[in-house]
Amino acid sequence: MTNQPKFYPSARPTAVIGGGTLGSRIALMLAGSGGEVRLYDPKAEQLDIAERYIDVELPKLVRARAGAVAGRVVYAKDLEPAIADTWMVVEAVPERLDLKKTIFSNLDRLAPKDAILASNSSSYPSSQMIDHVLNPSRVVSTHYYMPPEEIAVEVMSCGRTSDAVVAELMERLPLYGLVPFHVRKESVGFIFNRIWAAVKRESLEVVEEGVSTPAEVDHIFEVLLGSRGGPFRLMDKVGLDVALNIEEHYAAIRPGLPVGPRELLRRYINEGRLGLKSGKGFYTDYQQTPAAIS
Ligand SMILES: NC(=O)c1ccc[n+]([C@@H]2O[C@H](COP(=O)([O-])OP(=O)(O)OC[C@H]3O[C@@H](n4cnc5c(N)ncnc54)[C@H](O)[C@@H]3O)[C@@H](O)[C@H]2O)c1
Repeated sequence: MTNQPKFYPSARPTAVIGGGTLGSRIALMLAGSGGEVRLYDPKAEQLDIAERYIDVELPKLVRARAGAVAGRVVYAKDLEPAIADTWMVVEAVPERLDLKKTIFSNLDRLAPKDAILASNSSSYPSSQMIDHVLNPSRVVSTHYYMPPEEIAVEVMSCGRTSDAVVAELMERLPLYGLVPFHVRKESVGFIFNRIWAAVKRESLEVVEEGVSTPAEVDHIFEVLLGSRGGPFRLMDKVGLDVALNIEEHYAAIRPGLPVGPRELLRRYINEGRLGLKSGKGFYTDYQQTPAAIS
């Protein structure tokens, strides 16, 4: 595949399966280089939401990135026409392994034989989705980030991915304004999420032990690293229930992680303090000063 002539995003379409939070965001990125992207979701209302989001965000993305060109987004209710002629299909359906296995089995049967089949799953490596796939050499994980300004994508083999597929993604994703990173070994949490989980864990532990407070931990991040906010403000944004789910997932596969961080999160959650979405989390100033969290 690497010996093919130079590739242009307008040469061949891409498809995204699942038009939710990440699916619509991935479609937005893939649409910013003049090519065609098909966004498939069985729910019409989800496609409407995705269309409204992309209509607003695509012009902004094109203005912000030198060389970006608005491409065509097709909102598809049927799978087969959505994936016809594509060079890459990205799965972004809910985080259920049974569903992902079915999707990959269907994509393997229905997508063009040379199309790369990629999963955006955060918690399941694509090695767990290939039970019913005849050609796993084209299956791979590509892990995208939110919000759209975050242009890193982590590329990780399913264990049987061909080197040519990884090389092709490393070469082509930059043409879509993305910065790919090769995860060189299977890693739950990929590269960045795994490191960030350790930062969150120790921040929570420091507070659980009474060494510091959420606001002071965030402040020391701002002073020392020049960051906007710190781990506690970010956990409030993501949701403390989501943060707890992520930490429980790591704890299940890595025995011996400290329990204090999970206990602290559970106490806040039990008080209904889920973060920004419930108006209160580690911080309580959301209704009064919403601008503070931006
Ligand atoms: N939300 C995040 O910040 C984030 C970040 C990185 C990766 N991810 C991963 O992205 C994936 C999707 O997460 P999300 O937050 O976008 O979920 P979501 O619930 O917002 O979206 C999932 C979409 O999939 C659609 N869907 C359901 N069944 C389907 C099917 N059979 N075929 C096609 N579409 C179907 C749903 O209608 C929905 O629109 C997950 O694997 C998650 O781990 C999420």
